Amino acid sequence: MCGIVGYIGNQEAAPALIGGLRKLEYRGYDSAGIAVMGKNGLKVRKSKGALKFLEEKIAAELAAGDLSGSMGLGHTRWATHGEPSDINSHPHTDVSGKIAVVHNGIIENHAKLRAWLAGQGFRFRSETDTEVVAHLIDFYYKGELLPALISALKRLEGSYALGIISAEDPDHIIAARRESPLVAGLGKGKNLIASDVPALLEHTRDVYYLKDREIAILGRDGIDFYNEEGRPIEKEKFRIEWDAAAAEKAGYEHFMLKEIHEQPKALTDTLRARLRGAGSEPAGTDSGAAGSRSINLEEIGFDSSWAEAGRVVISACGTAWHAGVIGKYAFEHFARIPADVDVASEFRYRNPIYNPRDIFIILSQSGETADTLAAMRMAKKSGARIIAITNVVGSTLAREADLVMYTWAGPEIAVASTKAFTTQLMCLYLIALQFGSLRGVISAAELAAAIEALDKIPSQAERILADKETIQRFASLQFNKSKVFYMGRLFDYAASLESALKLKEISYTHCEAFAAGELKHGPIALVDPSTLVMALCTQTALFDKMVSNIKEVKARGASTAVITWEDADYFNETADSVFRIPRTLDSLSPMLSVIPAQLYAYYISVLRGLDPDKPRNLAKSVTVE
Ligand code: M6R
Repeated sequence: MCGIVGYIGNQEAAPALIGGLRKLEYRGYDSAGIAVMGKNGLKVRKSKGALKFLEEKIAAELAAGDLSGSMGLGHTRWATHGEPSDINSHPHTDVSGKIAVVHNGIIENHAKLRAWLAGQGFRFRSETDTEVVAHLIDFYYKGELLPALISALKRLEGSYALGIISAEDPDHIIAARRESPLVAGLGKGKNLIASDVPALLEHTRDVYYLKDREIAILGRDGIDFYNEEGRPIEKEKFRIEWDAAAAEKAGYEHFMLKEIHEQPKALTDTLRARLRGAGSEPAGTDSGAAGSRSINLEEIGFDSSWAEAGRVVISACGTAWHAGVIGKYAFEHFARIPADVDVASEFRYRNPIYNPRDIFIILSQSGETADTLAAMRMAKKSGARIIAITNVVGSTLAREADLVMYTWAGPEIAVASTKAFTTQLMCLYLIALQFGSLRGVISAAELAAAIEALDKIPSQAERILADKETIQRFASLQFNKSKVFYMGRLFDYAASLESALKLKEISYTHCEAFAAGELKHGPIALVDPSTLVMALCTQTALFDKMVSNIKEVKARGASTAVITWEDADYFNETADSVFRIPRTLDSLSPMLSVIPAQLYAYYISVLRGLDPDKPRNLAKSVTVE
């Protein structure tokens, strides 16, 4: 996720900005930049890659005093719109170079605004969504930033934390927030903004957290706050008592827990820009779907020709492969199209049979996994068309695929994948539904119901997280279990695979997942009183079968726990413990049912004194075979 720093004070801004950006490196980024307002006007310097490349680039200018100035903005970018490059890095400026903008978030209506601004004669330099903000402010600018910003914000859809400076006002930084974090720091003779507290701690521990639709104007001696109508507001000041390391994790003990909690936002970001119609686009936009919503994958280049495929083949590794298994079920269910799924390391050494009408969906959080890339290249060589689903803009997978659908989860730092998984599922469901719709196998009513259900998933995920203590308590009673099985049927089987992997990876528990129907064909031989069986039970038509399976393992002495719908009382008599999740369509359940399993794995790991962020023997990105 991008990092923002802004400094105004009595000292040199550039070193303060670089120092602040260094404290935000943990958030992940692919390029960095600064804008400094000095005697000779506004100077912007940016560089692709690590912060040290930017430092090298500006070293001579800094030494010569050519970047001298006591006000400026800094930014580390995690690419979303446009690949990592010098030009796409922030800050972005208006055409004349007098206004500089840094941005964290996603401007969802950027394409429409870009077309409109281009029609007004504004010339764009980058591929970013952010650049529209600089031009839009310039469009409304009549010598004062605040009214120009307020007018521009009215036109923006999506999320933003913004820092803005103007060469015509060397005494103020202006900042605004909607759905992306932004904090203002009140220092002595200096004031700052940042997307996260660690960037401020060297300068001050007195901070104001901006809320949605609030604006801050920072001078050298103070900070004033306004609402988006421009009316002054009072804000509460907080004193930061945490140490810097805790602040990087936003107060969470581990990155994994933070990333589990980021899922509602990540799911919203991944979904919202792909929906068209009421509630998903700015008022007045002609979506052609008045009053109803439809899936919009045109922006990624998905047209009806893709839906003419004869078969969908999915390939990936690890967690991404588990998402692929769920994807296979989703394609069969929503699009009635044959779908295969294969671990990439198997696929690349098999002798697969291709069909010219196959399309391949290749999933990878990093976009750099060696086996996954090899599978993608083999499929490409056969003439198949490739859809990549990845979290990293400009990754090798993104560059080599025919079509890319990004998961907008933000950087995932913990080795155990969580938010990348659920956002991969969101992408797969959207593609499967679009396939079904284009192939005419899903009715308008079914599509509308599915979209409505998808739209509720982020807030339902939030509700599960709000009840995390229930899972924590359960974990504290079960943490000695050395043998754990996850079982389920259909979508629950696929979700069991991922649930078991999480527990394995970070708690080193021997944990297997199996299709509940397979119980009698082997796994039941392992069940004894030392076993915990976690049963995922969201496939309503198969509840009876699951009750039988639970009774079978109980009869062999196992402890049992069920994850099921909040309104299903079906398992109360059978299972020892029941965890309830909000009701969605049975076919969409993995996006929710996996969250208690992620939390369970996390708490078991912590209870055993392990570091869930850095499991033994595992790397975040497996770039070698
Ligand atoms: O970056 P990728 O999605 O291609 O990575 C694939 C696997 O290496 C990854 O999902 C791995 O299984 C994680 N440790 C899962 O938590």
